[in-house]
Amino acid sequence: MSITHPSFGKLADNQIILFDTTLRDGEQAPGFSMTSDEKIRMAQALAQLGVDVMEAGFPAASPNDFESVRRVAVAVTGPVIAGLCRAAPGDIERCAEALQGARRRRIHTFIATSELHMAAKLRMAPDQVIETIKGSVKLARNYSEDVEWSAEDAARTDPDFLCRAVEAAIEAGATTINLPDTVGYTLPSDYARMFSDILARVPGADGVILSAHCHNDLGLAVANSLAALGAGGRQVEGAINGIGERAGNTAIEEIAMAIRTRPDALPYKINVDTRQILKASKLLSAITGFDVQPNKAIVGRNAFAHEAGIHQDGVLKNALTYEIMTPESVGWAKSSLILGKHSGRAAFKDKLATLGYGELPQAAIDEAFSRFKELADRKKTIYDEDIEALVDETAAEAQGRIHLVELTAEAHSDGKSKATITLKVDGVDRTETGFGDGAVHAAFNAIRAVFPHEASLNLFAINAITEGADAQARTTVRLEEDGRIVDGQGADTDTIVSASRAYVHALNKLIAKRERTIQLSPAFLTA
Ligand code: KIV
Ligand code: ZN
Repeated sequence: MSITHPSFGKLADNQIILFDTTLRDGEQAPGFSMTSDEKIRMAQALAQLGVDVMEAGFPAASPNDFESVRRVAVAVTGPVIAGLCRAAPGDIERCAEALQGARRRRIHTFIATSELHMAAKLRMAPDQVIETIKGSVKLARNYSEDVEWSAEDAARTDPDFLCRAVEAAIEAGATTINLPDTVGYTLPSDYARMFSDILARVPGADGVILSAHCHNDLGLAVANSLAALGAGGRQVEGAINGIGERAGNTAIEEIAMAIRTRPDALPYKINVDTRQILKASKLLSAITGFDVQPNKAIVGRNAFAHEAGIHQDGVLKNALTYEIMTPESVGWAKSSLILGKHSGRAAFKDKLATLGYGELPQAAIDEAFSRFKELADRKKTIYDEDIEALVDETAAEAQGRIHLVELTAEAHSDGKSKATITLKVDGVDRTETGFGDGAVHAAFNAIRAVFPHEASLNLFAINAITEGADAQARTTVRLEEDGRIVDGQGADTDTIVSASRAYVHALNKLIAKRERTIQLSPAFLTA
């Protein structure tokens, strides 16, 4: 039976809906939380990529989540904007309110259906869960024609009960039924069987979109999602770079490129412009501070690099010898050498536009331009990646209460390094000296002396942004205070300055986070 969907109309028989949850499930991973502004930037990149549905957040989870979903709904055109909510009236109403400004909206409501989750977490009897499904989907339908219902922990749910639950959701008006492998436990053959069972046994299942949502605990999320498509699934949920709870979600770029590269085995139609993949991936890394591993499929630094002589020789003669897709098809281009120290403001602005920063306010462009000039004095060749780091950092600093003004450091091999730092805190310059085991440690102690706080330093990572001894170092610092986790990023040709910028950035985020009230109940933590 062909499907007519309220948001997409009549679906072609081989059309697959790509549902991106980078801003919701992805953002739930420790250290990956994003500010409202960052979510807007990421949402614009996802819209350019052409995902069909974008889950912008969990509006009832916190005021910040609500505000982010509300802003994305208003600002982003193209994809259907979805919000997640539990099966509680207050959650559903809050979600509907956040989505009000969207041209096309989806309410995505869920409840757990496995015996373990119903008994241990929800403390509800199966019949109560069925009644709750009916009530929640009906209520959601009052606010939106497009309603997705998810059976949390579907992959570990008793098949008979799952059929009952799906039937109840369809009867109540759900237009997409999502069957998540919430804990990343399933195997491709089991997951495919679950989809064919539902299609064979549940009345009306062939008239709605069945969706796959997989977690990667066993490294099988992409394989499981593709198996679901083979068994009648019509939507895949995933996140850029595969981010998400624990080991992450299905990497959406891998699904897109598997479909584009293997039409013989995967004869599906998708809407994405795959050349935008790398841009979205890099933006996400810049915002969260986490680079993907070099060998990550599609977007890793080595994904199209050939080291072995025999491979290089083959690729030079005919790229198809060792490349199953072209680097350009996912947005890779040679890192271009760009402006030098004599370049003017117009050329710089032009470059920003080609890198996707066309919308920056004039003050941010001016600040970034003066930083670019300083950098050009210190660094011989400036690449696109340098410009991206510089602009991201300028934008991050503009939002904080604390700014790095000056830093001097002395490194001593006997472990008594010294750093003196001046920070502008709420407009007032304050200077302190710190000592430590190495200059970075000393600089961090100096920051603590200027702005005392109890947060612990949980992660410190440093990478070269480009090649060469004068390359900029990008640092990520993770701070934790009372269960609040934040990551800060910094970049500079000097590693100690880069690390200090990252620390200050993290501190600014921590201060902002302290000011937000976050009320998460245990049910949220398992979604
Ligand atoms: O993994 C999961 O079960 C989820 C649902 C809330 C869709 O993220
Ligand atoms: Zn999930």
